[in-house]
Amino acid sequence: MTVSGTLRTALAESSRSDTVIPAARFCGCMNPSDLHSINAGMKIDIVSVFPEYFDVLGLSLFGKAQAKGLVEVAAHNLRDWTHDVHHSVDDTPVGGGAGMVMKPVVWAECLDELLGLDARDIGKIVADEAADATTAETGVSAVAAASDAIVGQDGDDTPAAPRTVLIFPNPSAPLFTQQDATELSHADRLVFGCGRYEGYDARIPEYYRAQGVDVREYSIGDYVLNGGEVAVSVMLEAITRLLPGFMGNAESIVTESYTGENALLEHRQYTKPAQWRGIGVPDVLLSGDHGKVDRFRRDEALAKTNRLRPDLIERLDCKALDKADRKTLMSLGWEVSGAHPRRLS
Ligand code: 6GU
Repeated sequence: MTVSGTLRTALAESSRSDTVIPAARFCGCMNPSDLHSINAGMKIDIVSVFPEYFDVLGLSLFGKAQAKGLVEVAAHNLRDWTHDVHHSVDDTPVGGGAGMVMKPVVWAECLDELLGLDARDIGKIVADEAADATTAETGVSAVAAASDAIVGQDGDDTPAAPRTVLIFPNPSAPLFTQQDATELSHADRLVFGCGRYEGYDARIPEYYRAQGVDVREYSIGDYVLNGGEVAVSVMLEAITRLLPGFMGNAESIVTESYTGENALLEHRQYTKPAQWRGIGVPDVLLSGDHGKVDRFRRDEALAKTNRLRPDLIERLDCKALDKADRKTLMSLGWEVSGAHPRRLS
């Protein structure tokens, strides 16, 4: 059996003090259309030194999603996998410097268990794969070579949909985007590892990648947080709200900012009353002419994106723009005859 074959079938039962997040009191009944979209539900494990932080997942839409069986969340305390009296999870950085770094030994005991990996087999698999894949001349590390040997094992170029994905929030990693959220919403199981202090030992993700685990590291923005918990909450919300049946109104997902190939910032929204403290809503929204309303909103989205996020305009696919879109973009100073808009200046 392949390494990731083992991973895919394994869901380790833990006897530890895991918090299964209670769903908020929810007395909604399922409607028949929900049944089509519900299969096993997405399993989510979160490892943190503050698992109580995730108690809030029992609230709101996430709590309802748990009650409906769309998601199943367990928050684990990393300290449960320590053996010393102080339950220490960190140590001083090798090479010196400020702060503390999370220890690979503790993380590995935890992750081996959650991922259903047997540490004794793992050493053998790494050695076997490395022997097959590494030649003396390449100078590739045994762990990296083992990783390469496993990638592409499905025998074709199209990567299979991720099933179990291990995710580490990390301020020094690539930015987490809507596209990542969409891709990860197709996983069967997500395991999040929240770092604290100066971060986690770099060999942890390297090692699990070498076992064939799909490991991702993401930052949620260009600022520094104290730990990964907030970042995990952000990613989790972005991912799970895309699950079929999670949102009351699936249509609202389609028109949102950052969604789809032609992502634009969303147009402004108004509700009643039409006049409020001397400020009226745009007349066209009261016209009842859906074609005109759509065009108005689309033009506003283009103008707003041009003003606030011109980088998103530059990424638009000109082929997907209609005539009116092109006219609007041209009036905003863009040239639209190529593959992507180009700013005329
Ligand atoms: Cl993922 N972690 C931390 N600690 N800080 C961050 C972050 C992640 N993304 C942005 N800042």
